[in-house]
Amino acid sequence: MTRANMMVLGLLLPVLGFGEWTKIDDFQSYSQAKLTSGENGWRCYNDKITTATVCSDVLAVGNQAAKIVHGDDSIEKNHNFKHDVFYHRGALNIPPGGTATVFMRFLIESGLDKNLGHVRGPAPVEGAHVCIVVNEGALSSPGVRAGVILEGKAVTAFGYGRKRKADQKEPAPQVKRNCWYRMWIVLQNAPGSEENKSKAYLQEEGGDGKTVAIPGYVVSEKNYRPSIWKTIGVIKAPNCPLTDVFIDDFYVDNGGENLSIPISEKATQNWKAKLDAEAKKYAHLLKKPDTLEQAEKQARELLAVMTPEERFEMVRGSTEGVPGFLRLGIQPVMVNDAGSGINNGNSVNRGRFPRTVAYPCTLLLAATWNPQLAEAYGKSIGEECRVGGTGILLGPGMNMYRSSVGGRNFEYFGEDPLLTGHQVASYIKGLQSAGTAATVKHFVGNEYEFHRHGVNTIMDERTLHEVYMEPFRQGIEAGAFCVMTAYSQLNGRWAGQSRYVNTDLLRGALGFKGIIMTDWIATCDGVEFAESGANMEMPGGFSLTRDRAKVFGTPAIDRMALTILTTCLQAGFYDRPAKLPKLEKHRRQWEQVARDTNLEGITLLKNNGLLPMTETHKGKKIVVAGNRATTEELGGSGSGHVPGYANKTYLQAVTETFAGAEVLNPLRPDKLTDEQIRAADLVLLFPGMAEGEGRDRIFALPDDDLITRCVTNNPKTVVCLVTGGGVQMEWADKAAAIVHAYFGGQTGAAALMDILTGRAEPSGRLPFTIERRVEDAPGGDLKALQKPNAGPAVELTSVPFAHDLFPNETKTQGYVWDNAYAEGVFVGHRWYESKKIPVRYPFGFGLGYTAFAYGNLKVVVKGQKATLSFTLKNIGKRPGAEVAQVYVSDKVCSVPRPLQELKAFQKVQLGAGKSKRVEIELGSEAFRFWNPATKKWTIEPGEFEIHVGASSADIRLKEAVRVTD
Ligand code: BGC
Repeated sequence: MTRANMMVLGLLLPVLGFGEWTKIDDFQSYSQAKLTSGENGWRCYNDKITTATVCSDVLAVGNQAAKIVHGDDSIEKNHNFKHDVFYHRGALNIPPGGTATVFMRFLIESGLDKNLGHVRGPAPVEGAHVCIVVNEGALSSPGVRAGVILEGKAVTAFGYGRKRKADQKEPAPQVKRNCWYRMWIVLQNAPGSEENKSKAYLQEEGGDGKTVAIPGYVVSEKNYRPSIWKTIGVIKAPNCPLTDVFIDDFYVDNGGENLSIPISEKATQNWKAKLDAEAKKYAHLLKKPDTLEQAEKQARELLAVMTPEERFEMVRGSTEGVPGFLRLGIQPVMVNDAGSGINNGNSVNRGRFPRTVAYPCTLLLAATWNPQLAEAYGKSIGEECRVGGTGILLGPGMNMYRSSVGGRNFEYFGEDPLLTGHQVASYIKGLQSAGTAATVKHFVGNEYEFHRHGVNTIMDERTLHEVYMEPFRQGIEAGAFCVMTAYSQLNGRWAGQSRYVNTDLLRGALGFKGIIMTDWIATCDGVEFAESGANMEMPGGFSLTRDRAKVFGTPAIDRMALTILTTCLQAGFYDRPAKLPKLEKHRRQWEQVARDTNLEGITLLKNNGLLPMTETHKGKKIVVAGNRATTEELGGSGSGHVPGYANKTYLQAVTETFAGAEVLNPLRPDKLTDEQIRAADLVLLFPGMAEGEGRDRIFALPDDDLITRCVTNNPKTVVCLVTGGGVQMEWADKAAAIVHAYFGGQTGAAALMDILTGRAEPSGRLPFTIERRVEDAPGGDLKALQKPNAGPAVELTSVPFAHDLFPNETKTQGYVWDNAYAEGVFVGHRWYESKKIPVRYPFGFGLGYTAFAYGNLKVVVKGQKATLSFTLKNIGKRPGAEVAQVYVSDKVCSVPRPLQELKAFQKVQLGAGKSKRVEIELGSEAFRFWNPATKKWTIEPGEFEIHVGASSADIRLKEAVRVTD
């Protein structure tokens, strides 16, 4: 905190009515986080110069007792804040008659990440004061948003300030009671425009509808870029007694220091003692039950002692997870994202772990085609969750890879429902064996990020069941405790609040009994949501709260809460300490699993014999280039991002591995001359691109020209793709070798070196097809989506996250974008095969340093099941692993079926020259299809063909079989 700002706050404090602000210790070192622990829970973080610095928290200063509940109170610095945001949130309980102040400061580098803070407290009483201060920081990013939602009858003052002038004495603006206020703030870069001042507008429901400028709010000072703040929506919810603050998407850069706020320790202790005494009465209801019936019984008894307010609170969920109630001894259950380990850095329970392993992304896990490894991967993450007290992991994600441009493909498991389902089921078994609940997401049809808050996925029922629901079916069968629904609409209904999705499909067709939560702000109708069969509207029940008058205290809310309680009891969350720190001793094992996953998933796509590079490179010249050569965090962005620790760049790994070589790494491609490329003994390229949640991606690599230049000038060019899927590869024929390294996380670079040098045998296989041209993929060319559907405009209030679609305009109406999955069940290789479209690399493809022969297929069919066996022989000179894939082809069927569908696979390790008889069972699922006429799975007896091969395009053995009734 600068001296000037201290003075500012000093001036503000009497006005706003808080206690004394004091400065905590200066940071001893910029690279070390500083934290004050204890009940006041104030925490601070800092980091070097241009990187992010964020301090935020909730504090309560009471004339009576006040309590702040935190997820955690120990953070250790081990986080690269570049392009990142640090944010902490806590729940604020304001006792009757209390006064609370919420203070937030965000000082974040111009950047990329999404942040979402959410603070709330149950039922503050009439007369309480809530003040929100969003303070400090230089705004540096165009088109960014921040939002504050204030609600509740207890709100009597609303103040926010950004660099208030020291002499500014006006009181915070007054807002009406019994009103909802929703303010979306749009910050825009508008240099030189008239708008050289930032403005803030606030609209109030029930007022005259005009926007109201809030006085005393000046942003356009030194360090501040011009900004415009606008309101784009107002939500009505009279008589709401809750208080929420919602902050989303802050991109602000540099500066900032730290504060601590003293709270009366004694008051806090008294408060806690009172709660503990009450909680003792219910301890017997919190024991982990042996059966579902017992869980339901206990849940019913718990529900009976919960107040309607508490029940409502529970179903609203929060960014922290499942709300807890201290007076009942019900602990909050923390959640964390999810794509490549534990995301300890986004708004969802940020910073509760000292560090978390950055695993390879799940697409790479799929590429291992090894369910045992998927189980170990899940178990490692599950154990790590326990260390930091995370009860529910917000993953795994299992949407389908429809084309390479899907922005979150890296967080999923590829194009095939069977491979995805098998890997997912094993992952979930592993995760939940460690006591951490899985959340299978995003149900269903959420394949793209394009207008993800406003898109309507259209698909027929057969496609839904056979392709898109299938991984979820397997995940649920494996015991997943939670499901997260999609942002998108499914056939015209927002999935999160759709009765068809939640009740008919999830509860009905898939028999799911656990917690159904929405994605983060995915609903807009509280009544529809409450009736849909779902349980938690994350992260804070915005539409439930808006429609509170209609839903509060209803049997629907009780039903929703009952399932949450039942599931949490079943999972044992209420009967154990949230944290299990002793598991930390398994860290080395987790890191090893991460490395093994890389070793088994990295996929060799082309090799003209240059690999493995076993010879010494001492004294040789190696060019290392590509925009991912010096990237530390090998992962995608968004909620699936995990920063990791002990990261190694590809450049570092090359330098270590090829010791004694002269490594040339130009910082920019245009600094690398053709002569230098020609003069090199080896060219190693590591190209990638920005990929992550919130946007779809491009197909051609930004480094495409560089690659073309290298392969043209040097035949010893190895291209290592650092991407979350396929890319355009017009240069493929000229490259000496191509390796798909995906997003390897913290062990990715070292593992890739093991593969390149032959210390490990490549055995990854593509879990998706790489198309030649983006428009070859079904739905791959998103141009068709660039305009909204032709239907009538809809009220923005009926679109969740409407501001996302119309960030720069004040509108009341908008459109939804239709995205028809017209290819039906012909997704992935099924599409390319049936349409005879040539592909760059087929599904299931991958090379090793050895070769395998297949022979002697025998299939025995009994009714609707088959047992097949064949001989696999390693005919090369090195040991290696083969992924034998079994596809089934239905020769005659009343509905159009793909030419073949993957129905089983087995990864087999074999020493050089060794052979093995492989046996595989096919259950009746291998032959069935979803019959839209009967709405049932159906097998039509008759002729089928069994295909066994090394990829979808490399079938080595075939046998015709007859399936009977
Ligand atoms: C993502 C989810 C994620 C949630 C919480 C959403 O934007 O779509 O996958 O779990 O945020 O971070």
